[in-house]
Amino acid sequence: MDKLVIEGGRPLDGSIAVSGAKNAALPILCASLLTEEPLALTHVPHLNDVRTMRTLLSQMGVRIEESGGGHMTLEAARIEWPLAPYELVKTMRASILALGPLLARCREARVSLPGGCAIGLRPVDQHVKGLQAMGAEIDLDHGFIAARTTRLKGVRFVFDVVTVTGTENLLMAATLAEGTTILENAAREPEVVDLAECLVAMGARIAGAGTDRIVVEGVDRLRGASHRIMPDRIETGTFLAAVAAAGGEATLTDARPSSLESVIDKLAEAGATISTTKDTIRISRKGALAPTSLRTAPYPAFPTDMQAQFMALATRAGGTSVITETIFENRMMHVQELKRLGADIEVEGSTAIVRGVPRLTGANVMATDLRASACLVIAGLVADGETTIDRIYHLDRGYERLEEKLATLGATIRRVR
Ligand code: EPZ
Repeated sequence: MDKLVIEGGRPLDGSIAVSGAKNAALPILCASLLTEEPLALTHVPHLNDVRTMRTLLSQMGVRIEESGGGHMTLEAARIEWPLAPYELVKTMRASILALGPLLARCREARVSLPGGCAIGLRPVDQHVKGLQAMGAEIDLDHGFIAARTTRLKGVRFVFDVVTVTGTENLLMAATLAEGTTILENAAREPEVVDLAECLVAMGARIAGAGTDRIVVEGVDRLRGASHRIMPDRIETGTFLAAVAAAGGEATLTDARPSSLESVIDKLAEAGATISTTKDTIRISRKGALAPTSLRTAPYPAFPTDMQAQFMALATRAGGTSVITETIFENRMMHVQELKRLGADIEVEGSTAIVRGVPRLTGANVMATDLRASACLVIAGLVADGETTIDRIYHLDRGYERLEEKLATLGATIRRVR
């Protein structure tokens, strides 16, 4: 199993380009199921989760061509099997994103119910409830969500909780429904907006994406289109946090600063100097690191997917940071590993009290989920001596060539098999 070995204590310096967004690419790949015509995508990131989604769609009958440099064309002329098997869904819960498009296009779908997850319970009741409200008959059959409909009908649906993939699933389903769908208390994440832009390019009628009230006029069919996947705001935030933690100066190009304002604000609070243009972010951190307290919440508030990385930052700050996780019940698995590096952290319920320490010392640590692994990479860049991170398959799910990009910024980091 691959590991990462990091020699810490060096500032970061240089320039890197941001990759396409995992959490925009996954729903947009599923949107290809909504039309028999080709969907031509660019800036698709090379990630294990994208590979899994590709396998999922191919086994349904979608023809997929990749021509390097992030170019991917998907054509769902015929969907042989509207099925998402357990073997694939268990490796990637985002497979649930096939449910809405399959039901809308094929009028039936069989999707393995996602099981437990390291970071929380993560039920999909809102996805099911919304599709049932649109007229689908849904049963749980031998661990599968078995759904069918004569045709989905537009409705007004109010989400009980703000859910990103729940919003995306119903948004895709509503594009081919009969009549108007109004989604209330919808997620406002930039990835939802990127999906909506792609659907509109395919001929969908959508208003209000990016707000908590989305209105969709259903149409009879969608056409092919071209779309460029937005830059990954979490990858962007991860690199910014790495530079803020290790010190130094760096530029991120092909970025979208407007999609991570809450993160940029917190980095400035921590003592980093940041300047932006429309698609670049320049960061430097020379002086002392200040403590930064935060509370995760749905967009535009501080993203849960950046919580762990900021905890790594807080371990070396000159004071105490209070970090509260409100989205997932079990997203503090990185705490124990950080303590192995000498961090001083106390957890009470969903709040971590992080007292900054003068130094971290390198050690063997283990990744437990995607963002926890990014946190350990940042801590390793700061710690004295060598840190070895095990189980980095978590990292490969969501970061494209992370160690190469960090090495470009001057980090001493290598992958060992
Ligand atoms: C998306 O997951 C992202 N994944 C996650 O990123 C991200 O952490 C999360 O949104 C929150 O921002 C993708 O986009 C593929 P939710 P999702 O449904 O949609 C509860 C990463 O690191 N809920 O918005 O699965 C749920 O339990 C990943 O890249 C219900 O109760 O998250 C959670 O507490 C990790 N019922 C809250 O809502 C439902 O039907 C928000 O979850 C759905 C969700």
